[in-house]
Amino acid sequence: MHWTREIIEEFLIKRPSDMKVANLLNQIKAKYLEEKGESVSLTEEEISAYTQFYMPTNSKKFEFIWQQLDPKIKEDISSLPLVDFGCGPGTYLWAAASVGIKGPFYGIDSSGPMLAQAKALGAGLFPKLDLKFSVTDKDIPFDEPKTLLFGNAINELGVSQALKIIERINPKYLIFIEPGTSKVFKEILKLRAGLKEMTFEVHYPCASLEHACPVEGRIKDDREDWCHQVLREVPHPSIERIGQMAKMDRKVQPYIGHVYELAGTNLREESTARFVRFLNESKFAFNWEVCLVIDGKQSIFEFEIPKKNLDKKTQKLFKKLSIGHEMTYSVLKVLKENRLRASVELRGLDGN
Ligand SMILES: C[S@@+](CC[C@H](N)C(=O)[O-])C[C@H]1O[C@@H](n2cnc3c(N)ncnc32)[C@H](O)[C@@H]1O
Repeated sequence: MHWTREIIEEFLIKRPSDMKVANLLNQIKAKYLEEKGESVSLTEEEISAYTQFYMPTNSKKFEFIWQQLDPKIKEDISSLPLVDFGCGPGTYLWAAASVGIKGPFYGIDSSGPMLAQAKALGAGLFPKLDLKFSVTDKDIPFDEPKTLLFGNAINELGVSQALKIIERINPKYLIFIEPGTSKVFKEILKLRAGLKEMTFEVHYPCASLEHACPVEGRIKDDREDWCHQVLREVPHPSIERIGQMAKMDRKVQPYIGHVYELAGTNLREESTARFVRFLNESKFAFNWEVCLVIDGKQSIFEFEIPKKNLDKKTQKLFKKLSIGHEMTYSVLKVLKENRLRASVELRGLDGN
């Protein structure tokens, strides 16, 4: 869904001027950076600013992850109820509905004004959806299979509370999309370990929970690192304009997005890998760090991807590739330990 501010504007609970919105965005950023270890409370005007700027741009992360999932998983999730815990203005509910998830949808948030904003957007933009918004989770069908989603909420709740919520809501699928920083990544590693204990299997972005995360190894060596998921998107001009006024860029969005299934089966195919970090580009090749399972171990490798094996269209795609994208690969040459020359095919594009 390509949101514009014009589409959203009519359904905002407050209508501050553009200049005010830009100031409010910086105010919100400062509040989130304060990290008091408790839920961040936003005023109605701040919620309006958040909705105009973050709801359209955050939702693109969901669309990207969705594109990367196996068709069987997408079909299953599409037919299940979805609970968005810490839903805010409904950011990921609207994204989920836009990719074809049928609901019913449950939006839970402790903030009354956030829920009022979510309800207004739902009534205006998605009048046919089965939507239930509440400060409590008491109406959720606890015993039925469902998807639980956290969008930038684990960061506020903390990992131990998030694990308790997961246990209580009892989802079949779990999706979370959190801020992309090395600090949050360390917390997500703790959550990942908790989910493994609860017998979840991962569908995105890791190849498997059987193997240790290779980035975790680097962190143990005292390196500041994370999985480097980054979405590259050009927001609609109406949203980009506000970003320019606020001096905030949404063209490059770092985030941490994962998908799990309770007692799920790993569907990751042989010879697939994920882009982790762009290293550089020469006249002849793209050089990337990728994450893959090789010799029974999840590892980070460097791939030298010769341009001569890529058609012009794919070369163009490579220049604006979002990190976290899946590929199939075949090894052309072992260059040194953990460095391969490989030919690759991008997956998750045009339905392949
Ligand atoms: C950063 S906002 C994210 C909103 C939305 N999910 C998004 O990604 O755009 C976090 C939301 O979590 C809500 N929240 C924080 N602690 C909560 C709790 N204990 N129970 C329910 N909601 C909570 C806040 O009110 C806020 O709306």
